[in-house]
Amino acid sequence: MTLKLKVNGALRSVPASPDTPLLYALRNDLELNSPKYGCGMAQCGACTVLIDGQAAPSCVIPCKAVGKAEITTLEGLGSQRNPSRLQQAFIAEQAAQCGYCINGMVMTAQALLNRNPKPTEAQVREALAGNLCRCGTHNRIVKAVLRAAGDAAV
Ligand code: FES
Ligand code: FES
Repeated sequence: MTLKLKVNGALRSVPASPDTPLLYALRNDLELNSPKYGCGMAQCGACTVLIDGQAAPSCVIPCKAVGKAEITTLEGLGSQRNPSRLQQAFIAEQAAQCGYCINGMVMTAQALLNRNPKPTEAQVREALAGNLCRCGTHNRIVKAVLRAAGDAAV
């Protein structure tokens, strides 16, 4: 069966069943490999994407639940050549160690900045509380989000 998904501004056809988790459709069918499989149970945040601007765990959301909503993956924020302000801030703060959690951190932080462009450190930490990082780079990640939200050039 072919499904239609609106991803990163384009309508894409996906040869998947409606019950397929969105994460699998993104990675396996559309080759958007930024969202990662961590727990598969909405417990770690590695698979986070934006659905209509809100952070969502793509591992537990079936494709049929997305409907016509706009899905944004990390690839939709920016590219290696033209990273977004938030992605630039993560690079500047060297916030990634192994990098496995970083997709989820950036996407969850982007959702926060969408609704609150000037968060406090406490608000950043609260927003990212559900995103796990086994490498322990939390402090650099928080600094990166605050840097992106600041007035200074990133
Ligand atoms: S893989 Fe989706 S929350 Fe862990
Ligand atoms: S940088 Fe390795 S899990 Fe976060």
